[in-house]
Amino acid sequence: MSHIFLYGPPGAGKSTIGKKLAGSLKLPFIDLDRLIEMKAGMSISQIMEQKGESEFRDLETRALNALRDEKESVVALGGGTLLRDENRVFAQGIGIVLLMMAEPGTLLERLQSNNGQRPLLAGDLVEKLPLLLAKRSEHYRSFPLLVHVDGRSVEQNVQQVQLTIGRHHLSAMGEYDVIVQGNGLEQLGGSLQMRGLKNPILVTDDNVAKFHIEKSMASLRESGFEPKVISIPPGETHKNLDTISRIWQGFLKAGLDRKSTAIALGGGVVGDMAGFAASTYMRGMAWVAVPTTLLSMVDASIGGKTGFDLSEGKNLIGSFYPPKLVLADPHLLKTLPEAELISGLAEVVKHGIISDPELFDLCGRGLEWVKDHLEEIVKRAMAVKIRIIEDDPYEKGSRAMLNLGHTVGHAVELVSKFHLRHGEAVAIGMVAEAKYAERLTVAGRGLSEAVAGSLSALGLPVHIPQGLPGDEIVRAMRMDKKKNAGTVLFALPAEIGRVELVEVTDPGMILDG
Ligand SMILES: NC(=O)c1ccc[n+]([C@@H]2O[C@H](COP(=O)([O-])OP(=O)(O)OC[C@H]3O[C@@H](n4cnc5c(N)ncnc54)[C@H](O)[C@@H]3O)[C@@H](O)[C@H]2O)c1
Repeated sequence: MSHIFLYGPPGAGKSTIGKKLAGSLKLPFIDLDRLIEMKAGMSISQIMEQKGESEFRDLETRALNALRDEKESVVALGGGTLLRDENRVFAQGIGIVLLMMAEPGTLLERLQSNNGQRPLLAGDLVEKLPLLLAKRSEHYRSFPLLVHVDGRSVEQNVQQVQLTIGRHHLSAMGEYDVIVQGNGLEQLGGSLQMRGLKNPILVTDDNVAKFHIEKSMASLRESGFEPKVISIPPGETHKNLDTISRIWQGFLKAGLDRKSTAIALGGGVVGDMAGFAASTYMRGMAWVAVPTTLLSMVDASIGGKTGFDLSEGKNLIGSFYPPKLVLADPHLLKTLPEAELISGLAEVVKHGIISDPELFDLCGRGLEWVKDHLEEIVKRAMAVKIRIIEDDPYEKGSRAMLNLGHTVGHAVELVSKFHLRHGEAVAIGMVAEAKYAERLTVAGRGLSEAVAGSLSALGLPVHIPQGLPGDEIVRAMRMDKKKNAGTVLFALPAEIGRVELVEVTDPGMILDG
């Protein structure tokens, strides 16, 4: 089990935000203070008055320890619950602790309207609150996962908490959790068990298997599973019906039935194929995505699209078939070749441009900084895609925003005969589309320069390579499956943090200027 503990000073909003967070993650909510009151049959104030603080703290420790047997929950802690070292070690052992902080003025305002249940602050709040905060400031500062709640609505704070802890529940297409966690692979077995998923088979590729299969198997075995493995040759050239047949036959040989679970351990190629094979095997069995490339974490693993290529084109056959769980462990990226990482960063920058200016700025700090902060980057970028696909799961409207950079990008990738990596082509596409947006006055001047600056800082190309004929690129754009009758739909950047969908009749104009 892995509880989500909300901690912080009185008045930070642990209970209010906790309840909403639990609703959003479809988890039970527990308020530790209310639990203590229920068990003791009296209010916290009465416990303090009649038994003293030390006994209250004992009751608190006991109530906390009892959570070991509870199913995964969001837990609002008391403002001093983790002052005891043993409580802190215990909480961190059975979950994650997020600190919620607010300016003293905000806390004061909130407490003034509702201070009855806080005996340590009873009496002169204006005098006591700063003393309490000063006494605990070092303690609160020692928690690394932190959200400042000032100036945001409850809903915005819930979103911010989800982003910070890397935890989401998707429900627009199927119901599933998305978890982003360093060393999350160690939780694979437990995560399956918690969700009632059975009889797992790992589908991976030969590169990924070398680095990550043992740990995956160990985690599954620890949870009592007897996992099987299918490893396929790596790369897009194998994303075809032959490999899908091989996976189906592997499922049969392993004796899987509809109640079994395929675990896609790999990049987008493995995810797309394992997901598709699962969607069709015996009319559909469960699958879990464990993405191992940056691109598959921030893009391919979320959204429920599965499929494979035909010789006539990429992703021509496929299904919408969401996984039962996405478990992204950014530590797995340590073994990813740098060129693949850089390619994936194009999608991260794209997500920043679409709706997270802060993410865009972070990318601008350059490759080395980003490499040192991959968990934060992955969490932010995944949150952008999740918001979009929850709004438009079947690509009827706003999901097309995710095509930013891709209309030109796909064409450039194709005309380069795939010498350019996908991310490199998307980077080139984003700059071309930003320039076009400036010419159409959809964007203000300077946007394309800002986009190019961020991409270059990450080692991505920003110009169409010499030698790639413009007319072929335009022809490829017209052929792109995203075209509507006679026009091509572009997602154009209007500013950092906002894109507009624009129908273009003459896509040739995009390469002018
Ligand atoms: N389903 C979707 O919504 C969606 C979205 C975007 C892209 N895609 C698909 O994703 C595919 C591209 O995915 P990709 O970029 O992840 O490529 P990929 O799966 O081919 O992985 C790239 C390379 O990295 C290796 N690799 C993967 N993880 C590794 C790790 N942790 N350590 C060492 N090596 C590792 C792989 O073996 C491979 O050689 C394309 O087929 C594309 O169509 C799907």
